[in-house]
Amino acid sequence: MERHPEPGISATSPRRGWKIRPYRPQDRKFLEVSLEAHLAEKARLAPLRDLRPSRHWGEPYARYLIALAEDRQGLGLIAEVGGERAGYLLVVPAVPHGMPRWELRSTTFRRPCAAEEMFVLPRFRRTGLGVELLSTGARAFARRGFDWLYAAYHAGHRPEVRIYERFGLRSCSVGVGKWLGSGHRMRRRRLERGSPRPGLLPDAGSRLRLREFRGSDRRFLEESLDAELAERVRHLPSRELTVRRGWGRSYARSLWTEASKPNAWAIVAEWSGTAVGFAFAGIQEHGGWQGRALAFRRACSVSSLYVVPARERLGVGASILRVVEQHARARGCDLIRTFYPEGDRFYAELFRREGYLRNVGVTGVHLSPEGLPLLPPRRSSGRVT
Ligand SMILES: CC(C)(COP(=O)(O)OP(=O)(O)OC[C@H]1O[C@@H](n2cnc3c(N)ncnc32)[C@H](O)[C@@H]1OP(=O)(O)O)[C@@H](O)C(=O)NCCC(=O)NCCS
Repeated sequence: MERHPEPGISATSPRRGWKIRPYRPQDRKFLEVSLEAHLAEKARLAPLRDLRPSRHWGEPYARYLIALAEDRQGLGLIAEVGGERAGYLLVVPAVPHGMPRWELRSTTFRRPCAAEEMFVLPRFRRTGLGVELLSTGARAFARRGFDWLYAAYHAGHRPEVRIYERFGLRSCSVGVGKWLGSGHRMRRRRLERGSPRPGLLPDAGSRLRLREFRGSDRRFLEESLDAELAERVRHLPSRELTVRRGWGRSYARSLWTEASKPNAWAIVAEWSGTAVGFAFAGIQEHGGWQGRALAFRRACSVSSLYVVPARERLGVGASILRVVEQHARARGCDLIRTFYPEGDRFYAELFRREGYLRNVGVTGVHLSPEGLPLLPPRRSSGRVT
């Protein structure tokens, strides 16, 4: 599909011999070929190493990316060095897959976009092409009226994390996962090394009851979501994001609708007969690169897990999570995944103790009308915080 030329979607440096330009259908082969190298690299990086792309995965994923690059809504950029294709970036008017819905629903940012894929052939790396691709893509989307840029990253992958850090992207959400298969080596190693699991308090066994979610729990759900949101907003990377009124109710409705679908379930924890926590989970729908790799697995995604503050640290969250895992196993899932807000110590500790690994993250930054300013390099941390 031919695009109408859009002003400002290119950058050149005659001195250094590179050029950034929009994707053209003739670039399809390059995207396909370099994608194979890209995927192999991603598979090595994924902390959940068994998340090996299936052999059948590359091709559908290439088709998916090509469709993104050729879609008028999205933007594919190609970096050339001395006339040779050296890298690409795809930006789409959306949010990265796995972005927690609470964050989306709770905020009033008008138009988010996401850097979906970025890749520079190894021999052209560390010459500034990654920076140029990202700033050209961000500028183009800022001109189209987008005001927030997201990017997902692999936990611990330095180049990726650093490059986003250079543009001021800050971590919003942490993605964690755990293999549910009994014989998984990494999971066992982790659990052996980890601190002892928190058990329920001695009298909790008699007080705590876990059951399926009922229609009469909806009020508890709405109130909890409102309270949770007030807490979570404090962790959002930008204070510019503000809460929508009536958010709790609308989010409760969407969770409930989702839980009513086949292959989804919701658990409520009662403490001495009063609801104190819940979780919503379901078989994961597939999107994004990990999602596509996972299409060949049966993965459970936990979309919301909550314990009222007065009952935190009693083992309620862990108990709910274990019941969710049982359900997932019973439905044949071999992987369970979820996201929590960066900086939330309750979730960080809970998932660590339960043997979950930090796998991916989502970073974000406000886009000014000019795009993204490049910050000076910092020597220290390899993390986006
Ligand atoms: C991430 C990637 C696109 C960066 O491309 P690049 O052209 O090498 O990036 P740049 O030369 O513009 O480097 C920009 C900054 O990123 C950081 N960076 C890049 N490579 C790094 C590395 N190996 N170690 C530490 N920081 C690194 C640095 O801060 C660098 O700035 P500096 O050189 O002034 O210190 C490239 O490494 C790549 O394709 N990796 C594999 C695929 C991937 O991870 N894609 C991202 C997610 S889809």
